[in-house]
Amino acid sequence: MKTRRYIIKSAQDSHDAIVEAGLILRNGGLVAFPTETVYGLGANALDPSAVRKIFKAKKRPADNPLIVHIGYKKDLNRLVRHIPAQARLLINKFWPGSLTLILEKSDLISEIVSCGLPTVAVRMPSSPVALSLIRSAGVPVAAPSANRSGKPSPTTAEHVIEDLDGRINAVIDAGNTHVGIESTVLDLTVDPPVILRPGFITEKQIRRCIGTVNVYKGGTATAAVSQPRSPGMKYRHYAPDARLIIVRGKETDVHRFIARQAGVNRKRKLKTGILTTKKNHRYQNADIIYIGSSVNMIGRNLFSALREFNRLGVDVIYSESIPEKDFGKAVMNRLKKAAGYEITEL
Ligand code: TXA
Ligand code: MG
Repeated sequence: MKTRRYIIKSAQDSHDAIVEAGLILRNGGLVAFPTETVYGLGANALDPSAVRKIFKAKKRPADNPLIVHIGYKKDLNRLVRHIPAQARLLINKFWPGSLTLILEKSDLISEIVSCGLPTVAVRMPSSPVALSLIRSAGVPVAAPSANRSGKPSPTTAEHVIEDLDGRINAVIDAGNTHVGIESTVLDLTVDPPVILRPGFITEKQIRRCIGTVNVYKGGTATAAVSQPRSPGMKYRHYAPDARLIIVRGKETDVHRFIARQAGVNRKRKLKTGILTTKKNHRYQNADIIYIGSSVNMIGRNLFSALREFNRLGVDVIYSESIPEKDFGKAVMNRLKKAAGYEITEL
């Protein structure tokens, strides 16, 4: 199959692309599209054979359910059994936006979407392109991140093409996504609710809105494998080709340690990659990627940097760590997964 690329630069491109891509979705095809978090790979959520194609294109394990994206808040009504009071509060506050809610599913949601679970994940994205596309399709859109399973989530159309060219009908290219990290996933079918995946909408913001919430502690390699609450969490994620090691400690110690490792690796003829968040950190003997110093910039650039290291063909990557506060928790969650939880504490 030839993958059609719609490039959106002006309102007119946008109109034509959205109409055509909406038709593709409606007719059972696959369209990758930008949301404010990452690019998603969409299919008509009410058409099981279309949804099946998502799993095939991504090589996604069949037991990992999909998020259903809606274009209007009212579209939630027929997808779930009922909308609890806490969900209403959260929707008023955070939709459209980077918060996915797990609720009891209605019969309209097929087993293919929910992977046999009695629940469904739903979100209304805030990206104008995503919203127009879903509205133009006229159906709810099931969409996981538009990467090959296991790869870092795509934050540009190039990333999508890299992983899925020839396997999907179209991709809408509207440049870099804004947040860069996937949505917060909140399970509202348990009491208190549980954050299954941290994201841009933070624990603190959710707590302020609905009171007590728990946070799923899948934060270790063993917990992630042995007790997956959210099926997707047991799989290795975001992994770059090279070994990735997070280095944590006092800033000067981290800098010195990584600089020394790069020198040692050079002698061993190993190519080193370094992920830094400090412009003033000088390193030699390595491919260095500076991903920004604010947590928002780091979130936006992280997945792109992980992919870039693959292109550079490095053998080992050292990453500085960032404080695990607010959005920093979500960013570190992805970085730790990418590192297979390998952390050097200084
Ligand atoms: O920002 C995002 O959420 C992006 C964009 C495209 O919207 N989507 C995304 O989808 O990250 P995906 O499929 O890559 O991740 C969805 C996560 C997985 O960990 C999955 O296991 C979990 O949500 N999930 C989906 N349905 C669930 C359910 N019914 N119960 C528990 N977890 C669920
Ligand atoms: Mg994903």
